Amino acid sequence: MDQPRKLHIKSFGCQMNVYDAQRMVDVLTSQGFVETASADDADLVILNTCHIREKASEKVYSELGRLRVAKDEAARDGRRVEIVVAGCVAQAEGQEIIRRQPAVDVVVGPQSYHHLPQLLAHAKTHGRALETEFPVEDKFGFLPEPSRDAIRARGISSFVTVQEGCDKFCTFCVVPYTRGAEVSRPVTKIVDDVKRLADNGVREITLIGQNVNAYHGDGPDGRPWPLGRLLGHLATIPGIVRLRYSTSHPLDVDDSLIEAHRDLPALMPFVHLPVQSGSDRVLAAMNRKHSADDYRRAVERFRKARQDIAFSSDFIVGFPGESEQDFAATLALVTQISYAGAYSFKYSPRPGTPAAEIRETVSAAVMDERLGRLQQLIDSQQSAFNLAAIGTTVDVLFERAARNEGQIVGRTAYLQPAHVMAPPDIIGRVLPVRIENLERYSLLGTLDAPQTGPESPAPSAMSTGA
Ligand code: SAH
Ligand code: SF4
Ligand code: F3S
Repeated sequence: MDQPRKLHIKSFGCQMNVYDAQRMVDVLTSQGFVETASADDADLVILNTCHIREKASEKVYSELGRLRVAKDEAARDGRRVEIVVAGCVAQAEGQEIIRRQPAVDVVVGPQSYHHLPQLLAHAKTHGRALETEFPVEDKFGFLPEPSRDAIRARGISSFVTVQEGCDKFCTFCVVPYTRGAEVSRPVTKIVDDVKRLADNGVREITLIGQNVNAYHGDGPDGRPWPLGRLLGHLATIPGIVRLRYSTSHPLDVDDSLIEAHRDLPALMPFVHLPVQSGSDRVLAAMNRKHSADDYRRAVERFRKARQDIAFSSDFIVGFPGESEQDFAATLALVTQISYAGAYSFKYSPRPGTPAAEIRETVSAAVMDERLGRLQQLIDSQQSAFNLAAIGTTVDVLFERAARNEGQIVGRTAYLQPAHVMAPPDIIGRVLPVRIENLERYSLLGTLDAPQTGPESPAPSAMSTGA
């Protein structure tokens, strides 16, 4: 009998690529492939790429160079290795990939993963295949359900895409071009997905979308539901103890979302709310369509609804024309909001985006210097936030065995990793942990009380233990 063909996927970029990688595995396992952890013994290697910054997208070509060597070596041993490029670089630079790297068999954009089997078959008979047109149908209607074993192997926390694409067109960003127009999935499909995940051991769901709070999928009542309403419905599904969502846009923070944070204990009080800059001049040039004060007001609305809420964000330093005064406004905003953590990036001009045409650029040296200052400020806020947990008792959802023997690791409401010595049967449960120490970014603690019984208790509100 033939050995099953082995598949390896390497993902770059955002959470949606992580989720899409699982969908591609689901498509290909239904075709008889099995997943392998290493590219070396794979018969099919998929690079799931990211185009967001130059560094991310250039990585693809060096990866492909290495894969080509491996493919040639395998061919000498009489073994056929296929190479697929998926993700946002595939969408943006499909033709160029085909031209630059003859070893690539298939190029497939993010909206066409349900066509992977046909594309692979086409490549076999015609040499190569490329699909970067946006199909008319919604791929989610055609992607197979993950098997029970696949869900169980993926652990107790899962992403679910509820919205994809973006209509915002920030002047620096490729996403509206690579992921296409904003589309929301219908409520019933999402509910079915979450039920299946919960039935197979998943306890935490993170709803993902490029602009997840712009969600407006059709509800069972025939009306569009906002994200807050969807979250409220998902919170009633047995087994689901934690809900999160990412990434939000400040413009789309509506009352339903604020009310969800007020009313749903399962909705974690940790919001990723990118602002990019604290300068109104830069925000306008970025086409963010909101001011720094609009952002401050959005944060205040969340804080009023849920006192223990914390925020993370994304920042771009060195956007074309950013002055020292603009940058100072960013530092002032960060100081005022006080983040639990944040990502900051040097501006990277992307082909085809309006900002790439602006001539008034910021020098590399100035960008480096500003990034350093911003990261120092964010790091100090993150450290203070983590240190504040010491001596408190917090709820932790336990996920898996840690590297150190006997230790189990989970996450707090704020996604801080927390380690305790405990038996593995606590995995999948939310338990109060007394935090005693902080080691780099990890909290160390002890279970508050000896736990018995297999049932996961309802998540309680975070207590300060004071
Ligand atoms: N949809 C999300 C984020 C998408 S990309 C939002 O609207 O905020 C993730 C982050 O990458 C962005 O928040 C931004 O900080 C950063 N980013 C996007 N394009 C970039 C570019 N051209 N250069 C540097 N950073 C960029
Ligand atoms: Fe990109 Fe802006 Fe859309 Fe976010 S909102 S994906 S930054 S265009
Ligand atoms: Fe990258 Fe595409 Fe995600 S550009 S950040 S993989 S949407």
